[in-house]
Amino acid sequence: MATPAMLAEALAGRSPIDGGWWAELEPPVTEVICGEAGKVLGVVSYARRPSDGAGFILWLHCHEDQALAEALIARALERLVQRTVHAFEFAAALALGLEGLPARHRPATRKALEAAGFTGRDLWRYMRAALPIAGLPHAPHVTVHECEDPAGKRLEVREDGELLAEATIGRPVAGTGVLWWIGVAPPARGRGLGLALLGSALDLLKGPGASEAILFVDDDAPRRDPDRDRTAATGMYDRAGFTEVDRLHSFTRRP
Ligand SMILES: CC(C)(COP(=O)(O)OP(=O)(O)OC[C@H]1O[C@@H](n2cnc3c(N)ncnc32)[C@H](O)[C@@H]1OP(=O)(O)O)[C@@H](O)C(=O)NCCC(=O)NCCS
Repeated sequence: MATPAMLAEALAGRSPIDGGWWAELEPPVTEVICGEAGKVLGVVSYARRPSDGAGFILWLHCHEDQALAEALIARALERLVQRTVHAFEFAAALALGLEGLPARHRPATRKALEAAGFTGRDLWRYMRAALPIAGLPHAPHVTVHECEDPAGKRLEVREDGELLAEATIGRPVAGTGVLWWIGVAPPARGRGLGLALLGSALDLLKGPGASEAILFVDDDAPRRDPDRDRTAATGMYDRAGFTEVDRLHSFTRRP
């Protein structure tokens, strides 16, 4: 749930996640569409990036009414004028790191984007689990440091000074904590360390009050891509009891 403080950040054109992308934009324009008696029915926020002239639909809400979504998108396109326009390309301050449109939960918005000539890319698997998860192992000798970008904690497992595994978790917001990253050095994989570090990371999220954990898997790379194959990660999250909330899609429309 977005808080007034999160909305203020989004309106100001800032975001704690993907903040560098937002810093490249002109100040965003946010417009609402109203019904009778001034009731707000929908909202769209968009901006230009001066370096290449690209336009961005940053966020849009319309109670999943396709006609409203179409009107809001048409308005943004009219104002962004004949440029390449991206939609839901990076995270906003309104949510904890959703770098795309949750496609199954937002079918009318997706259809309206496609009807307006946008092409979607299915980029992320968005997962959640209620905490605590019973029965997960824990990694021995984990060191924990505070980190600022993203705001949260970094966990490390070292052997003779060498980094074997690492994980980054966010500071929980309203009971939800994000697992931003977990990785095990290639020679140490397949021996239970990843699952154990996941157990330790989720305990650290539960400590300051998270009742659920969410995470995003960038599983769009082809299998066997040495750096970005997420087969093992997906297997590990399934095994730990995470379930898919949705798939996150980003969209582009060329003039
Ligand atoms: C994902 C990763 C952290 C797993 O670490 P790991 O130490 O090898 O994992 P574990 O040995 O603890 O295995 C835990 C579970 O993951 C699953 N798993 C691990 N390797 C797998 C593989 N190659 N294929 C399918 N499932 C796999 C299994 O379910 C396994 O449980 P099981 O052994 O009881 O069946 C590691 O592969 C990695 O660093 N990958 C690259 C970075 C990455 O993708 N990070 C996640 C970004 S979202």
